[in-house]
Amino acid sequence: METEIGQSIEKAAHFLSQGEVVGIPTETVYGLAASAFNIDAVTKIFEVKGRPTFNPLIVHVADLADLPRLAQNISPLIFRLAATFWPGPLTFVLDKKDVVPDLVTGGGDTIAVRMPDHPMALELISLAGPLAAPSANPFGYISPVCAEHVKNQLQGKIPYILDGGDCKVGVESTVVMADDDGIIVLRYGGITIEALREVVPDIKIQINQSSDLKSPGQLKSHYSPRTKLLLGDVNELSKHHADKKLGILTFIPSASALPGNVCVSLTAKGNMSEAAKCLFTSLRILDNAEVDLIICERVPDHGLGLAINDRLERAAADYH
Ligand code: TXA
Ligand code: MG
Repeated sequence: METEIGQSIEKAAHFLSQGEVVGIPTETVYGLAASAFNIDAVTKIFEVKGRPTFNPLIVHVADLADLPRLAQNISPLIFRLAATFWPGPLTFVLDKKDVVPDLVTGGGDTIAVRMPDHPMALELISLAGPLAAPSANPFGYISPVCAEHVKNQLQGKIPYILDGGDCKVGVESTVVMADDDGIIVLRYGGITIEALREVVPDIKIQINQSSDLKSPGQLKSHYSPRTKLLLGDVNELSKHHADKKLGILTFIPSASALPGNVCVSLTAKGNMSEAAKCLFTSLRILDNAEVDLIICERVPDHGLGLAINDRLERAAADYH
């Protein structure tokens, strides 16, 4: 199969209506989309991605009215959050309705739904949605934040990638569910805890591992480059591994970079949004730099820094 990259929303909608899987832009990362009600098409997502089918998918909508079509018992809190943050990087886990295929929800009773903040995605979903879509990376690998990243990894496996430019957020959506008093955060992402707290004061954090049924897709090891990656104090790590060619990822540019190593910083002046936007591209650059080892440091633990550190920890988890 030839993989075409283009900007035709009509073409992408046509492939989706034919039961094909298409790469789509969102504001967070690129998605690997199929019509949420077409079981054969959703099956193809899992095949293309190499993802176990017990991992549930996020369903993408373009209209708030789709929410009660897909989910039931929706708390007023969810509507309040949707009014504030949609379209945007916030995903709700809700009780699913029977019309939603079990394959989409990993066999569970809940469905994850979000409305992405990307004009081309919204137009496409209006034509061919709702769309089930995980991030468009092979299972376990770094998430794609431009159409080229998708093509590099999935060439020949999907017919079309809708090119909507670089993702402006750069980390996946925040995943939340309502409980009796407030909300539970299941994955850190593009909407910060600070921003959520302005709408809902009662927030519990339950960043799950794969064994927890609430967020079965949150695997400990994820987002991993092929090159071994260690997370910690980069000065100490680079001394300890002085015999190796290193890829070094720092938050802001590091003064003490050793010659011969490949150094990348996430942001010139400590801007957290810029750091999030550059995270996955920086990991890809280092993974393709033919270094022996990637070492990186945590970023400050606030705002989008929580999502960045979560992804870095998962990227390093294979190598503990
Ligand atoms: O920003 C994003 O969310 C991107 C773009 C493409 O929209 N999508 C994305 O999908 O990151 P994926 O499949 O890579 O991650 C989905 C996350 C996983 O952590 C999974 O556990 C959680 O959503 N999730 C999905 N359905 C769920 C459910 N029913 N209950 C709990 N967690 C769920
Ligand atoms: Mg993913």
